[in-house]
Parts: sequence; structure tokens; C-alpha cells
Amino acid sequence: MAEKTILRALNGEVLPTPPVWMMRQAGRYLPEYRATRAQAGDFLSLCYNPELAAEVTLQPIRRYGFDAAILFADILLLPQALGADLWFVTGEGPRLSTTTTAADFAKLKTKDDIHDTLAPIYETVGILSRELPSETTLIGFAGAPWTVATYMIAGQGTKDQGPAHALKSQDRETFCKIIDLLTASTIEYLSKQVEAGAEVVKLFDSWAGSLKGDDFEDFAVEPTRKIIAELKARFPHLPVIAFPREAGEGYIGFHEKTGADCVALDNSVTPEWGAANVQIAGCVQGNLAPGHMVTGGQALVDETRHVVEAFKNGPHIFNLGHGITPDADPENVALMVETIRGG
Ligand code: CP3
Repeated sequence: MAEKTILRALNGEVLPTPPVWMMRQAGRYLPEYRATRAQAGDFLSLCYNPELAAEVTLQPIRRYGFDAAILFADILLLPQALGADLWFVTGEGPRLSTTTTAADFAKLKTKDDIHDTLAPIYETVGILSRELPSETTLIGFAGAPWTVATYMIAGQGTKDQGPAHALKSQDRETFCKIIDLLTASTIEYLSKQVEAGAEVVKLFDSWAGSLKGDDFEDFAVEPTRKIIAELKARFPHLPVIAFPREAGEGYIGFHEKTGADCVALDNSVTPEWGAANVQIAGCVQGNLAPGHMVTGGQALVDETRHVVEAFKNGPHIFNLGHGITPDADPENVALMVETIRGG
């Protein structure tokens, strides 16, 4: 009876009120996050400081009572642990040393050499599993191989993932080696998170939508399938959420093809479409447009009710369609949660 709401939804149960959490719920829209980040010095120092990373993970739980907490870290810590240089340019985003040739690839470490760098992340998970309220589910995560590869190859975020697509067509062998190394390392990284106390894991494939046709099957579906199959061999009851963002028609069949327990939907698809085409195969997560957290008002209330209503006949975890942005108003988040829980 007392099983956590998120775990019940992931197990296929249809709940009268959907459980809720938000991507990037620990973030710059919260004054308490900005204060702790300033105390840490910068974003990466915050990620690698277990006490402070646990503190920012807990802040939105205290404020809103979300049903899940997501580990505070970043998808780019894994390439850093593999030997890439990583830094963040204020106002611009991440920068990495590039991996674009066989010689660059040869300099990377192996899947078994990542844990020294990532040990503080596992420590954060351990603190959280002791400190979270008993009803809150702890979600671990990693980037999906394609999305992480796009940053490793370009050395930064790109609009069209052009450099990664170029390497895929010009030096497919090196490209595939990068994907395979990320696939194997992600299995080890997530396994350690689970051993430290993560109850669910999520794979963020933010740029899945730029893979078309066979590429989508080979580089979004297949690495995800391999990661999930191995994780489930090691931890048979571990629920997995997959987020192939902007996959469009690619969302159809994603549960079955990958073994994911839940498929997270972005807000480029309507909730009605998601219910008819994706939720029929299992739990879905999503998909309120994050812009409502900035604009608020009656439109936020109406759209929140719309999302709840459209997904009410199947297993559903309420979330945004992408991360909350720094210009969001914390009061609007409270209004969303109230609308979901109070009607
Ligand atoms: O959801 C969560 O709150 C958990 C923690 C988390 C972060 N990043 C913290 C973060 C997670 C799951 C991520 C995932 C992530 N990181 C993705 C995939 C999801 C997505 O948003 O599409 C990607 C592509 C990254 C890489 C990354 N990290 C970028 C492009 C940026 C810069 C953009 C930005 O928002 O500033 C980051 C920085 C980052 N990661 C911040 C946070 C809270 C902001 C850092 C700060 O405090 O300045």
C-alpha cells in the first residue's frame, strides 16, 4: 500500500492524481539554488560537492513536495570522467575538448576507469537516499550516448548537431566507437548510482529528434535498448525512463523497442497524441510546456488541467516537456502543483 507514487505509476498503475516532478527542478529560478551555487563557487564545483549537491537536490522537495527528486549532476560529467576536458562558460553553456579522430578516441579512458572521477556523484546519491522523505523517489540519470556524443564531437552545444552528423558519415568507425564506449560506460555509471541508492534511472536523449530513419534506430533506439537490457539483467526490478526528445513519430513503439518502463514526452506533441500513440504501450511522463512556468496565470491552470485530463486513463507522471528555465517564477510552480493535486 505504502509504495511510492512514482514507482506505482512506473509499474503501470493508473492513479487518481498523477505524481509530479520537474526536469531541472533544482535550478537557477530558485533563490536558494543560486545561494548554494554561489557558496560552491561554480556549477561544476557544485556537482562534485556531495553535501551541497544533495542540498540543492532537496531544496525543491522542501518547497513543493515533489514526488521525485533527481540527482543533481550533469550529463557531461561522464565524458569528463572518460578524459575530456569540461568547463562551463557563463551565459553560453558547456565546452569540451573535442573527440573527432581515431587518435582523440585512443586517448579516452575505458568504461572501468570512470569511477574515481565520479565517486562524489555516488556519494551525493548515498546522502540523498538517507535524507529524502520516505514518500519521495530518488531518480538517477545519464545522458543517452547520441546526445553526449554530440557534445564530445562538437565541443559545445549545437543547433543542428552538425559536427556529430558529419563524423557519422565521414568516419563512421570512430563515430561508432564513441557511441559504443558511451553505451558501455553509461551502464557502469548508472549501475553505481543504483548501488548507491537511486531507485529509478532516466536517460536524457535531448537531441534524439535530429536522428532520422535508420539513424534513429541505430543511434537512439539501439544504445538505449542495450543500456536498459544490461541494467535489467543486473537489477531486475529497476524502472527506467527514456526521454528521446523531439522524436515525433519515433516515440511510437519506443517502450517496446527499448524496454523502457516510461517514455518521457516533450511538448512538441499534444497530450492527446501522446495518450493515443505512446501511453497505450505504457507509462508516459510529461508534457506541459516550460514557458507556462514563466507566464503563469489562467493559461497555466488550464493547460495543467488539460495535460492531466488527456493522460488520465493510463499510467502518467506529470512533468514539463523540457527543463524549467532560469526566468521561471517559483510561484507559478506552486500553482501548477496545486492545480494537479487540488483540482
Ligand atoms: O533535472 C535536473 O535538475 C537534474 C540535473 C541536471 C542538470 N542537467 C543540471 C544543470 C540534468 C538531468 C541535466 C541534463 C543535461 N545537461 C542535459 C539533458 C537535458 C536537457 O536539458 O536537454 C544537457 C543537454 C545538459 C548539458 C548542459 N548542462 C547544458 C547545455 C547546460 C547549459 C544550459 C543551461 O541551462 O545553463 C548545462 C548546465 C546545467 N546543468 C545547469 C543545471 C542546473 C545550469 C548551471 C548553472 O547553475 O549555471
